[in-house]
Amino acid sequence: MPITSADPVAVVTGGARGIGFACARRFARDGMRVVIADIDETSGLAACEEIEAHGGEALFVHCDVGERFDIHNVMAETVDTFGRVDVMVAAAAAGAPSAFLDIDEKSFDAVMRVNLRGAFLAGQAVARQMVRQLQATTSRDAERERPYSLIFISSVNAVMASATELAFAVSKGAVNQLAKSMAIALAPHGIRVNAIGPGTVSTESVKPLISDAKTRANVLSRTPLGRIGDANEIAAIAAFLASREASYITGQCIYADGGRLALNYTVETLAGGPA
Ligand SMILES: NC(=O)c1ccc[n+]([C@@H]2O[C@H](COP(=O)([O-])OP(=O)(O)OC[C@H]3O[C@@H](n4cnc5c(N)ncnc54)[C@H](O)[C@@H]3O)[C@@H](O)[C@H]2O)c1
Repeated sequence: MPITSADPVAVVTGGARGIGFACARRFARDGMRVVIADIDETSGLAACEEIEAHGGEALFVHCDVGERFDIHNVMAETVDTFGRVDVMVAAAAAGAPSAFLDIDEKSFDAVMRVNLRGAFLAGQAVARQMVRQLQATTSRDAERERPYSLIFISSVNAVMASATELAFAVSKGAVNQLAKSMAIALAPHGIRVNAIGPGTVSTESVKPLISDAKTRANVLSRTPLGRIGDANEIAAIAAFLASREASYITGQCIYADGGRLALNYTVETLAGGPA
């Protein structure tokens, strides 16, 4: 189907690669126009080219999510180009693996700046634009049929502690609370806010880790489904949360972790599997 100016518009931070890109590509396939906001211009432009090669419409905006002016610029370019915004996925993130006693203040702040401040700035800017759209509409019923959905990519580490990724885990715990608090704040406007908590998903940043046989075996031993996740499996949840099918879901985090959070510990059962 040809793209039209009525098609929903999705802004995806960290959309140049990995889970963010999988979401952008899925949204485009589902008929949305997409804005990829990322610090990596080369990958971002390549991502847009790939989407357009498959008949989608995509715009790249260079952006460091920790910078208020960059986020402001993303919104200005989105509205200039597409006239509105209907969906946001905040996927941009950083980590700083370190033993707890060795984490320095700078690394801790750097993780918080991207993962938490960046999610807050992007979420608030998109929500402000959405409220402006809702207040400006002359056709409230038609506007209410649009998705108005914000999605934060969190992690199992929002609830699962990590001694070696402490800043990351703390930031994702806060992202879950950001999503829940924003859900309540924006519910009167009919704007839904949710999070997705992936387990281990094969993306560019994770591939080097899981290509090590010992690390991979360790990850799989904590993954009841017995395999690493695929970014498209996270994008499928984002597509659902962005759709009207999820119209009564707000303030939730949906975990896609191959069963990791359900697993307390493993002992051999008589049947030979984990109990
Ligand atoms: N892959 C996993 O196993 C996994 C597990 C749990 C949570 N997550 C979460 O999923 C999201 C995506 O992870 P991924 O594995 O695809 O990561 P990735 O490193 O492959 O991609 C992250 C993207 O964010 C961009 N980015 C980084 N800092 C930025 C900044 N300051 N401003 C704008 N863009 C920036 C990068 O350029 C990159 O395009 C992250 O929020 C991550 O914490 C991933």
